[in-house]
Amino acid sequence: MSAEYPSFVRQAHGAPIAADVRQALLEDPGFGRVFTDHMVTIHWTREAGWHDAKVRPRAPFTLDPATAVLHYAQEIFEGLKAYRTKDGGVALFRPEQNARRFQASAERMAMPVLPEALFLQAIDELVTLDADWIPGGEGSLYLRPFMFASEVFLGVRPSAQYLFVVIACPVGAYFKGGKSAVSVWLSDDYTRAAAGGTGAAKCGGNYAASLIAQAEAIDHGCDQVVFLDAAEHRWVEELGGMNIFFVFDDGSILTPPLGGTILPGITRESVITLARAQGHAVREERYAIDQFRADAASGRLREAFACGTAAVISAIGEIKSSDGSFTIGNGNGGEVTASLKAELVGIQRGDVVDSHGWVRKII
Ligand SMILES: Cc1ncc(COP(=O)(O)O)c(C=O)c1O
Repeated sequence: MSAEYPSFVRQAHGAPIAADVRQALLEDPGFGRVFTDHMVTIHWTREAGWHDAKVRPRAPFTLDPATAVLHYAQEIFEGLKAYRTKDGGVALFRPEQNARRFQASAERMAMPVLPEALFLQAIDELVTLDADWIPGGEGSLYLRPFMFASEVFLGVRPSAQYLFVVIACPVGAYFKGGKSAVSVWLSDDYTRAAAGGTGAAKCGGNYAASLIAQAEAIDHGCDQVVFLDAAEHRWVEELGGMNIFFVFDDGSILTPPLGGTILPGITRESVITLARAQGHAVREERYAIDQFRADAASGRLREAFACGTAAVISAIGEIKSSDGSFTIGNGNGGEVTASLKAELVGIQRGDVVDSHGWVRKII
């Protein structure tokens, strides 16, 4: 076993959830509530590097009360899905991009970098062992790789020990009721990320800081919060867990540029590529909230949508804020959003030719 790239020990669950119970759970799994039988764990220490890679029965961890992550929040994660393809196989969508973003997040949070091949093998091992948990139809198996500071110490410095874990949960639609368009709340009081901060990293702390704004969105009857930039409180950045796109009457598309405060979404990058291939001019440019309101009112803005792994592509119908609400187009999404969604989902499911080489078949 090399410290760089350990080989996996496979320990199958002695008493997995019974097939009939699993089938019943898969009927309506919701999102993030039902978990599979196994998990992956890989340890890292300064002395031994990455070691002790296992795919094994899913079980709780025992943590000392002084475990570093509980105090200083040194934690990062990823989110990707395994899909059942129409030929009965199983595929992942651009998992190497998740591996690379995980590496970038690790660097930002002063954590060790997991080799891409080890990240990919961890995913393959878990999906292969828990393949019976992948729902058919529109469902998928959501994979959650994460890493946390596991050293027992109090003191503000990078931990000397980490645990990398992958768990999996079968999921259905992210937004309840499979709505045709979602509504978003424009946060006045809170921002998500500032220049030099951790906005481009997928660290748990970013989400902890966004929860109050998301709760405010829910209180106002909205599905998600949309954040403006921290410096001027003027430029639209992204949603609590999704990137945002705007479609104009001339067919052009705009999305806010990555600049360290926005999460570089893999769906975002895929949508840019697909939209350009469909003939749309796509600009990565800042978009001011006043312009957003004015363009929605004049009809120059035809559609807006949010995108991310969990919800794929969701039309945004309405923006609510303390200054009042406004509707985009007819409030129910539009043709460009629908066509990009159909193509992306088609590629993920194997119904549309994968001309970009994005799909990784694992079964
Ligand atoms: C803050 C934020 N923005 C954007 C995204 C979309 O990223 P992706 O398309 O890689 O899922 C996510 C989801 O991971 C997110 O949490």
